[in-house]
Amino acid sequence: MGDILVIGSMNVDMTIRVKELPKTGETILARDLSFGLGGKGANQAMAAARLGGKVRMLGCVGDDDFGRKHTQALREAGVDVSDIKTDRAASTGSAFICVEENGGNCIVVSQGANLSCDEDYIKSKREVIRSAGIVLAQMEIPQKALYSAILDARAARGKVILNPAPAPEHIPDEIYRGLDYLTPNETELMKLCGMEGEVSGGTWDGQAIQEGARRLLDKGVGTVIVTLGEKGCGVFRKGHVAWFPAKQVRAVDTTAAGDCFNAAVAVALAEGRTEQEAVEFAICASGIAVTRAGAQESLPYRREVEARERT
Ligand code: RIB
Repeated sequence: MGDILVIGSMNVDMTIRVKELPKTGETILARDLSFGLGGKGANQAMAAARLGGKVRMLGCVGDDDFGRKHTQALREAGVDVSDIKTDRAASTGSAFICVEENGGNCIVVSQGANLSCDEDYIKSKREVIRSAGIVLAQMEIPQKALYSAILDARAARGKVILNPAPAPEHIPDEIYRGLDYLTPNETELMKLCGMEGEVSGGTWDGQAIQEGARRLLDKGVGTVIVTLGEKGCGVFRKGHVAWFPAKQVRAVDTTAAGDCFNAAVAVALAEGRTEQEAVEFAICASGIAVTRAGAQESLPYRREVEARERT
């Protein structure tokens, strides 16, 4: 089995549950506030380890309790945390998350120590990056550092999966060409392919999603997997389109469901399973994550996903 290297953010999540997300200018009340470990990078590393992957992580925390809890939790899950950097001058990143009754959320991240996951740090880990079978990354760390890691992984012929969350205005073509998999959700796809203004009401039909994915494939991405929440996902390659339905579940909290999906794809591919098997495994895993509250608390273990696959 190939090793998975997750490069990304590590946050403390502050979550409040509300009936509906607030509108601009509105003040609303919530019952309670909960703290948990999150960050797309740490979530993906944790999920991949729980799902049976051999995982190592690159990321940065502050010299504080949350930073220490992060490395401890990942270590206990079996993740190799020996390369995680502690920035003595910054606080661990934090995320402010509002979850509404139907499980949907909105998130604002204050990057904190994630900003120290910079080019110098990434370059100092070049050998680790070059020896990874699969590099799995997202976009809550400085872009230059991320891009340098992708190019390094590519040069060493490792597989690269980029979860473009949060989606930037622009990704250089050279980077697109270095991606085996790009895994946006619908909103991220809209932004990346420049079709934001082209679809009325912000809702995309299958044809628009396919056109968006085609534009990214034209830039040189190997496979685009668009995650569509309760509608499942679409997988696009040159000359190939496949749609996968989601599991029917009652969503409680969608936080980290995308992270779980990406981690599951990485684990299955690292095991040499086919793309279709990887996507089906990921749908099953993320279908469990949405039924539970929180980020890392919601991430399922391998045995749970296998049990669900049998039903
Ligand atoms: O994907 C969910 C994650 O996004 C949260 O854990 C939060 O920290 C932000 O990074």
